[in-house]
Amino acid sequence: MKKVIYYFSGTGNSLRAAKVIAQKLGDTQIISVRCDPQTVSAEEADIIGFVCPVYEWDIPGAMKTFVANLKINPKAYIFMVATYILIHGKSFETMEELLSSKGAHLSYSRPLRCVASQCIAYPPFPPEKLMIPIMEKNMKKISQEIQNKKQRPFPRMSFITKKLYPKVMTPYMEIETEYDKGFYTDQRCTGCATCAKVCPTKNITLQQNRPVWNHRCHGCNACVAYCPTKAIQFRTPEAHKQLGTFIIKLLRLPEKRKRYHHPYIKAKDLM
Ligand SMILES: Cc1cc2nc3c(=O)[nH]c(=O)nc-3n(C[C@H](O)[C@H](O)[C@H](O)COP(=O)(O)O)c2cc1C
Repeated sequence: MKKVIYYFSGTGNSLRAAKVIAQKLGDTQIISVRCDPQTVSAEEADIIGFVCPVYEWDIPGAMKTFVANLKINPKAYIFMVATYILIHGKSFETMEELLSSKGAHLSYSRPLRCVASQCIAYPPFPPEKLMIPIMEKNMKKISQEIQNKKQRPFPRMSFITKKLYPKVMTPYMEIETEYDKGFYTDQRCTGCATCAKVCPTKNITLQQNRPVWNHRCHGCNACVAYCPTKAIQFRTPEAHKQLGTFIIKLLRLPEKRKRYHHPYIKAKDLM
C-alpha cells in the first residue's frame, strides 16, 4: 500500500503534524510542496495526505499551485490537516474544490490549533509550554483516526467569516507579494544560506553571500525563525502592524515580537 503526505510548512507546526501522522501510518513518504508535482505524483497512492497552515483564511498559494498540478488517485483515502490559530476560513473548501476538479474528494479533514507563527506582526501565542503538549495530544488522536480511515466531512467557512472575508482580507491580498520587501539582514549574517534552504517557496537567492528576497513570499517567516544567528530583521508592513496591534490588545499579549519555530522541527528537517 502506497502512502504519501504532501506538506507546506514555514515554522514547523505543519511538518510536525505530517511527521506524527506518517509515523502512525508507517512506511509513508513525506514530500514538500517545493518539489515539482510532476515528479512526485500520487496516482499510485492509496492514502494521500495534505498538511499545511492556514494563511489569510485560506491555504498558502504554493499549496494551491502544487495540488492543481498534482496527479492523484481519485479512489484513494484523502485527508487534510490544516494548522491554524483562530480562523481556518475557506481552507478546506479550497482543497475540496481543487480535488473535485480531478474527480477526487476529501475523506477526512481536521483543523489543528497550533502556536501562532506570524512573528513579524505579533508574538507567538498561546505560550509554547501550554500549546505544544495540547498539539501533541490532538495529533495523536488525529493520526489514530486517519489510521482507522475514519470519514470526517470538511468544515466550511462560517457565515460571518464569509461576509467579512473581502473587507478583512483585501489589504493583505494587495500586499501579498510585497511582504518580503521589509526583510533585511544585519551584520550577523554569515551567508550560510539556511534561509534559502528552508524557504518553502524557493523565494531566496544568495548574492554576494547575502540573501535576496525575490517577491514570491507567502510571509511564512521560516527565514526569520530559522536564521541561526538571528541576522534576519524585518520592517512590518502597515496592514500587519494594525493586525498585530489589534491582536496584542485583544488577547493582552506582550508587545515584544519573538521568533518562533516548532521546538521539534529543526532547520535541516525543512531543507
Ligand atoms: C502569513 C500568515 C498568515 C496566517 N493567517 C492565519 C489565518 O488566517 N488564520 C489562522 O487561524 N492562523 C493564521 N496564521 C497562523 C498559522 O496558520 C499557524 O501558526 C500555523 O500553524 C503555521 O504553520 P507552520 O508552522 O507549519 O508554518 C497565519 C500565519 C502566517 C505566517
